[in-house]
Amino acid sequence: MIGRLAPTPKASPMTASTVTPYGTLPPASPVAARKPISLPRLNEMRERGEKITMLTAYDATFAAVADAAGVECILVGDSLGMVCQGLPSTVGVSLDTMRYHTESVARGVRRVQGTSWIIGDLPFGSYQASREQALHSATVLMQAGAHMVKLEGGGWTTETVRFLVERGIPVCAHLGLTPQTVHALGGYRVQGRGDTADKLRQEALALQDAGASMLVLEMVPAALAAELTLALTRCHTIGIGAGKGTAGQVLVMHDMLGINLGKNPKFVRNFMVGQGSVLEAMSAYVHAVKDGSFPDNALHAW
Ligand code: KIV
Repeated sequence: MIGRLAPTPKASPMTASTVTPYGTLPPASPVAARKPISLPRLNEMRERGEKITMLTAYDATFAAVADAAGVECILVGDSLGMVCQGLPSTVGVSLDTMRYHTESVARGVRRVQGTSWIIGDLPFGSYQASREQALHSATVLMQAGAHMVKLEGGGWTTETVRFLVERGIPVCAHLGLTPQTVHALGGYRVQGRGDTADKLRQEALALQDAGASMLVLEMVPAALAAELTLALTRCHTIGIGAGKGTAGQVLVMHDMLGINLGKNPKFVRNFMVGQGSVLEAMSAYVHAVKDGSFPDNALHAW
């Protein structure tokens, strides 16, 4: 059950709910009820110590539910290759597929007059060749409805990040376990341990200097992620398997709903447990991230 989306404070004929075969969509929210998430709003949250929540979504309905649950950032992740397309990794995902899903998510959020910040993931092969290729691919996702693009990789991406940011495209970088390079990394393993921690530190600082305003840290030791979060004052760290010390958290939606095809990674909590609907599960995730009860470093981190 997806769940009944939260009603807006004041219902009027202009804001009636819409009943569809798939559930009841929320009424169009009064524009003033929730302000759209923007980079300045994320900065304000960080300043007051409020954690940023992010979930992946790949279609209109789940995006609308995530928005209604209060998730600030929706990542149209290339993880859709694995969870939607059944691919063995994210390597086979095309730019056109990302465009299709980004459009679907953006329509879902608009459909409910939602406020989420939408991040489009640049897929493997769509930004590696040149800065111009990256600009072209980022333009495709921004025109599909993304507010920001995400790309994976360290030092070699710095100039690409700068190039995009200078042209008005907000960028989220991604370090640690970078699934698009899983074959080069030798598997889905913790990154940034021992001698490699220093390289990760330098890359994170260089990405901030290049203008990245967000940085996903995937499967890196909790202590390193917490240290980077303090060091990166202009770039919000978003952890996945990186402990509780980051500025925000992200999970793949299917994982946190307990419906993935394989074994859940250690850093995931199944938020459907004890909840009656997807909306409740996503709301529980938002609350747990905000009150610091998820992730638990003893259970979900290294
Ligand atoms: O594609 C994706 O879902 C991601 C998250 C795991 C951060 O990159």
